[in-house]
Amino acid sequence: MSTATAPAPASAKPKYTKPKVADQKMFIGGQWVESVSGKTFETLDPTTGEVICRVAEGDCADIDRAVKAARQAFESGPWPKMNASERGLLLHKLADAIEKHKEELAALESLDNGKPITDSLTADLPLTIACYRYYAGWADKNFGQTIPINGPYFCYTRHEPVGVVGQIIPWNFPLLMQAWKWAPALACGNTIVLKPAEQTPLTALRVAQLAQDVGFPDGVINVVPGFGPTAGAALASHRDVDKIAFTGETTTGQIVMTAAAQSNLKRVSLELGGKSPNIVFADADLDAAVEGAYFGLFFNQGQCCVAGSRLFVQESAYDEFVEKIVAKAKSRKVGDPFLPDTEQGPQVSQEQFDRVMSYIEAGQKEGAKLLVGGRRVGDQGYFIQPTVFTDVQDDMKIAQEEIFGPVMSILKFKDPEEVLARGNRTTYGLAAAVWTKDIQKALRLSNGLRAGTVWVNCYDVFDAGAPFGGFKMSGIGRELGQYALQLYTEVKTVIMAM
Ligand code: NAI
Ligand code: MG
Repeated sequence: MSTATAPAPASAKPKYTKPKVADQKMFIGGQWVESVSGKTFETLDPTTGEVICRVAEGDCADIDRAVKAARQAFESGPWPKMNASERGLLLHKLADAIEKHKEELAALESLDNGKPITDSLTADLPLTIACYRYYAGWADKNFGQTIPINGPYFCYTRHEPVGVVGQIIPWNFPLLMQAWKWAPALACGNTIVLKPAEQTPLTALRVAQLAQDVGFPDGVINVVPGFGPTAGAALASHRDVDKIAFTGETTTGQIVMTAAAQSNLKRVSLELGGKSPNIVFADADLDAAVEGAYFGLFFNQGQCCVAGSRLFVQESAYDEFVEKIVAKAKSRKVGDPFLPDTEQGPQVSQEQFDRVMSYIEAGQKEGAKLLVGGRRVGDQGYFIQPTVFTDVQDDMKIAQEEIFGPVMSILKFKDPEEVLARGNRTTYGLAAAVWTKDIQKALRLSNGLRAGTVWVNCYDVFDAGAPFGGFKMSGIGRELGQYALQLYTEVKTVIMAM
């Protein structure tokens, strides 16, 4: 992801306008339909708290319809007969269509989620497009082996799709999370029922339309908007869904996994929360570390599963580091996401706003030092000041729980072995980072940290080719890269007497 934002113009005029959005239906079996119950829900603009539009609200009955459509498309019609290379071509066409509509999609994403349009245009959209293109290339390259077993037998494996795949995604990167889920699943020949987050259903529905336009057969892709405990739970516990892929909070992941176990033992992959240690040694390029730590925490309003939310700084560099990062946090431009120079928009919802504010309160109560921020910005929408706490101790709530907001916690350390042990002292294991010029320390720490991704002298570097996922309670399975193919493939062994 790029940190680049446009320089602030002398008088910031809205270069981008907020789109007007009509009420939305759901997408099942190639048709745009109302919910079975007739119910709808509101999706809100987090910049103002106002209603953008109403969206068809899915529940058990709608999930069931969508699963039936996905099952039918999996078993008959053009999809199971299609050459793997043709699936790849469809994914390329979808990537092209998204690219063609990237300004429209970026505006829709920023409207529904509140993220600065500059970020949508420079991070979310390019990463989304790259993800579809990357898996387009894999579609005809996911194949089995021939195996020399004992006896007069010919043994080979086939890589087959898992079947009907349920996918539940969060609101922090709606387009990108959809791409991480759809691209590998489609490349491998599965059919999909997606439940987008209730806070941000709009771009998922728009991309479904684009997928239909470029020629994905009816029923291959279905999108059922709705809430977690209703539509989400119905998908996770549906007996005719072969696999569930989930991204969100760890406790929700546990509910989804339980539902999967108790219904039909459907396959489960989970990408969950984090409390990632970002470790800065005194011998690091301090300016680069400040830049990386700032981006690694405040990017996307702090709403990142990989946020470097436990920032460990070695004591001899601590004061200088704190001074520099506080200056940066103070200068961060918070405001209308549709202004090109805005660096930080609102939190996604009132609920998330309240949650983040409660952590800021907890930090102060527990005795961390609030150096900057801590308050709401303005009187409408869900804006929070970039906030920095120092003197944070390992056992404080703000050092243990996922805050998911623009709140930085800085902790002090003395030596490598100490910080390695403290860095690992968490139930999470999603990401970590190390800043040092000493190759020994870089190797010792990157080997020792129990995390799915370790960045060295960088942060938040994502690529469709680089696997991503969590150790420990941060998840199960790896998305992206070649590894994600495993999530969407059943291996069949064929043994033939010769
Ligand atoms: P969540 O985990 O409840 O929501 C994520 C998705 O799961 C949404 O689509 C939601 O509708 C669905 N869901 C909720 N309950 C469900 C259930 N019982 N069965 C099936 N699906 C269900 O997360 P939420 O409430 O939006 O945010 C709460 C916290 O979760 C955040 O403050 C943050 O700490 C964490 N979070 C982590 C994310 C990550 O990328 N790891 C993304 C979003 C939230
Ligand atoms: Mg919304």
